[in-house]
Amino acid sequence: MTIPMILDCDPGHDDMVALLLASRHAELLAITTVAGNAGLEQSTRNALVAAQLFNLNAAVHPGAARPLIARSAFPPVLHGESGLDGPVLPTLTIGPSPITAVEAILATTRRVERCWLIGTGPLTNIALALRADPTLADRIAGISIMGGGIAFGNITPSAEFNIWVDPDAASIVFRAGIPLVMSPLDVTHQLMVTPAFGQRVRALDSSIAEFMADLFDTYATRYQDFFFEEAVGPLHDPCAVLALTHPELFEFRDMAVKVATGDGPARGATLPDQRHSKLDDPANVRVAVSIDSDAALELVIDAISAIP
Ligand code: RIB
Ligand code: CA
Repeated sequence: MTIPMILDCDPGHDDMVALLLASRHAELLAITTVAGNAGLEQSTRNALVAAQLFNLNAAVHPGAARPLIARSAFPPVLHGESGLDGPVLPTLTIGPSPITAVEAILATTRRVERCWLIGTGPLTNIALALRADPTLADRIAGISIMGGGIAFGNITPSAEFNIWVDPDAASIVFRAGIPLVMSPLDVTHQLMVTPAFGQRVRALDSSIAEFMADLFDTYATRYQDFFFEEAVGPLHDPCAVLALTHPELFEFRDMAVKVATGDGPARGATLPDQRHSKLDDPANVRVAVSIDSDAALELVIDAISAIP
């Protein structure tokens, strides 16, 4: 049975792969966009690029241009000003829906029972939807996010980018009492694209394979420029989709996790209760702690090959 889902994203190189896998292995009902890797205009344009290139049967609904509480932003060094540096982007023949992200989330989850919300960017849209209609929490099957870091951060030593951008929205989601699956950096850094993987994609020998290979090569190079010693790019966002469509590829651990809000060095940290004591908070998150990365990468190759 294919899982119905709405993908809220900030494309973003890795968000593009999440969109592709969602269309291949789930029922992708709608795409909603949020500012994150780049501005809302770029996120929305890039989601439309995905919809057009991957022949996605899902409308793109623009959402929040800024977090719930506006703070300092971060320069788009990894994904670029376009949010999708590397490949030549196609001329769009489609446009965004006039229905906003929150309206689309509320209407779609009223139309389709037990839908999953997938968050691969800052969680502003999902938090706003929960605030706009508290009954949303009762009619969705759950929320699966790429976000957070248990042992480490990326944008700061303690915080992962998606949570750091809008920690208040993330705190609303983590405290909503909704089944929550979290793919933190601890697992996404196990799923790396390398130059060799980019060559495998390019060898698929199609225009879309060329586009994806350029995407992966640029992504890995940018990570080497700003983060790692070698050209490897963590495929963060696909984990949020695969954790639902292919749970057998993962090891999960139920944890009590809180989000640090406010400013200061802990902003956006996802704080697990690891006291292993009688004082422990009740678990509120199913955390992905490991992934079979070889199998996951084969699913990416398959999905690229299957694009009509
Ligand atoms: O920290 C990684 C996350 O931030 C990913 O979702 C990436 O696309 C960026 O949004
Ligand atoms: Ca993202």
